[in-house]
Amino acid sequence: MTKATIGFAMCGSFCTFSKAFEQMRRLVEDGFDVIPIMSGNAASTDTRFGSAEEMRKKAEEITGRSVLTTSVETEPIGPKDMCDVLVIAPCTGNTLAKLSLGVTDTSVTMAAKSHLRVQKPVLLCVATNDALGASAQNIGRLLNTKNIFFVPLRQDDPIRKPNSLVADFDKLPQCVEAALEKKQTQPVFE
Ligand SMILES: Cc1cc2nc3c(=O)[nH]c(=O)nc-3n(C[C@H](O)[C@H](O)[C@H](O)COP(=O)(O)O)c2cc1C
Repeated sequence: MTKATIGFAMCGSFCTFSKAFEQMRRLVEDGFDVIPIMSGNAASTDTRFGSAEEMRKKAEEITGRSVLTTSVETEPIGPKDMCDVLVIAPCTGNTLAKLSLGVTDTSVTMAAKSHLRVQKPVLLCVATNDALGASAQNIGRLLNTKNIFFVPLRQDDPIRKPNSLVADFDKLPQCVEAALEKKQTQPVFE
């Protein structure tokens, strides 16, 4: 029997995809049913970290399900009770900004809106070079938003990238358990 169903939404922080896939696999191995979701950018951009097709196939191989990539596919998440928790890993500065301002124009922001509509938890696993710059106000607003939780963050390279924060991806499974109980894992900043 599966433990719970996790919507696992990936945004376009391509350099952290391998870390996200590692955690996606752990969650499947831990007995969760995982529904893969990718933003349009994540699902369609070829980068030096791999082709879009390879990335979509990897998510499908790990979860055994087709990746949801459009708002039409993610809109039913709330009303059809599809997930117990929605993980956004990696979450970009772009998606943080949209979430904090209520902009819904991607598969991932639609998934979040739909899931929050039924008062269920959304867990953000952020990776962005401007976390302590342009995204700081959005992180601040989301820290104070009901049913939004964060995977603990740390400065990954304070000297060369002083505004950058990356979540501790290894903590994702324990943060999922906490978020299912609507608890924020501490400390938020490591
Ligand atoms: C190679 C590459 C790496 C990127 N890495 C990041 C990143 O780590 N964090 C981030 O916030 N944006 C990153 N971006 C920019 C996002 O992909 C861009 O803002 C995009 O619009 C995000 O869309 P989404 O949030 O809907 O996925 C990267 C872009 C490219 C091409």
